[in-house]
Amino acid sequence: MFNQADVALLQNHATPFYCYNLALLRATLKSAKQAGNGYHLHYALKANSDVKILNEIREAGFGADCVSGNEVKRAIECNFASSDVVFAGVGKSDTEIRYALQSEIFCFNCESLPEMEVINQIAGSMGKKARVALRINPNVHANTHHYITTGLEENKFGISIHELPQVIDALKELTNLQLIGLHFHVGSQITDLNVFRSLCTRVNEIQEWFASRRIALKVINVGGGLGVNYHEPDTNNIVDFDTYFGVFRKFLEVRPGQEVHFELGRALVAQCGTLISRVLYVKKGVQTNFAILDAGMTELIRPALYQAYHKIENLTASPGATIARYDVVGPVCESSDCFGKSLDLAEVKRGDLIAIRTAGAYGEVMASHYNLRSLEPTVYL
Ligand code: LLP
Repeated sequence: MFNQADVALLQNHATPFYCYNLALLRATLKSAKQAGNGYHLHYALKANSDVKILNEIREAGFGADCVSGNEVKRAIECNFASSDVVFAGVGKSDTEIRYALQSEIFCFNCESLPEMEVINQIAGSMGKKARVALRINPNVHANTHHYITTGLEENKFGISIHELPQVIDALKELTNLQLIGLHFHVGSQITDLNVFRSLCTRVNEIQEWFASRRIALKVINVGGGLGVNYHEPDTNNIVDFDTYFGVFRKFLEVRPGQEVHFELGRALVAQCGTLISRVLYVKKGVQTNFAILDAGMTELIRPALYQAYHKIENLTASPGATIARYDVVGPVCESSDCFGKSLDLAEVKRGDLIAIRTAGAYGEVMASHYNLRSLEPTVYL
């Protein structure tokens, strides 16, 4: 993905930093928009809230899916129309709710009855009516890492199906709320598309339940979760959006006048981002060699937190360099600060530029200041 000219440019920058390829981002957005034609596509800001990236995404015609008041604020600052902003999350604070109401966002994705009671009360005090969608926990297994599975009954997310009668009853009293639809999200990094087929089946059943009670639902929001290929970022740099949306076109029963909404994060931004780092030291261990980078879990926590794989490349290997095996680690004082064990890389030396690929989603946004560390400025290609 990086040609000689890119590498020469990257060499001029202090590391570690995130590098975003805006041309690839644009191509990805275009492909998603085309494949998702007729659907309402929101971008999940939690994956990456870089302002330049958000501007591209807004220009490409996406709405915004937010999970905090600050994300709502960021979306509005980046000129997303407030009527294209949805706000989810199990723990919305009073201040966040007030701000979202003031901003006239499209809708709150509500995750519990206590939350709806608070939104109702705050909306009433502001003389407003809040549009809400019920986030329903469909109890569909996402076949992904258990930390990023969200649609099971054991997870904290959403309203369980058994609670629905009680919630619908209670809604009659919550007169400052307007129920506009349903929201679902079963997990992230989902590569088995049968999961989305199962979701469609559940949604169809649940819709039937509402229809039998003559409750009209304008919006069906099926969330995000589409996974990307971390192993082959070059041959699979744009996700097969046609097949993904095709599942919904085939299996989701859409009722007359209904809008179908999506909230993709990772699939839109993961492949356009790379964490660029330099090798500080090559250290001989007892059983392995360590390549010690100036980036660590503080800049990209996914390997430490989810044992996630990210492809690592030596961008400045000498021509004809032999392949050697390394544990690639960061400088942070934690044993989990490791990007990968026993990885084969073109032989590395101090000062080599290292690319950690597919880091555009849940990379920079999850960076921390542990050890008082900080990132160098972002580079855009
Ligand atoms: N909608 C809701 C309600 C969500 O909770 C999420 C992600 C999305 C949409 C976007 O999902 P995506 O299309 O990006 O899969 N930090 C983890 C991922 C956490 C995802 C949380 N929710 C990781 O690095 O893998």
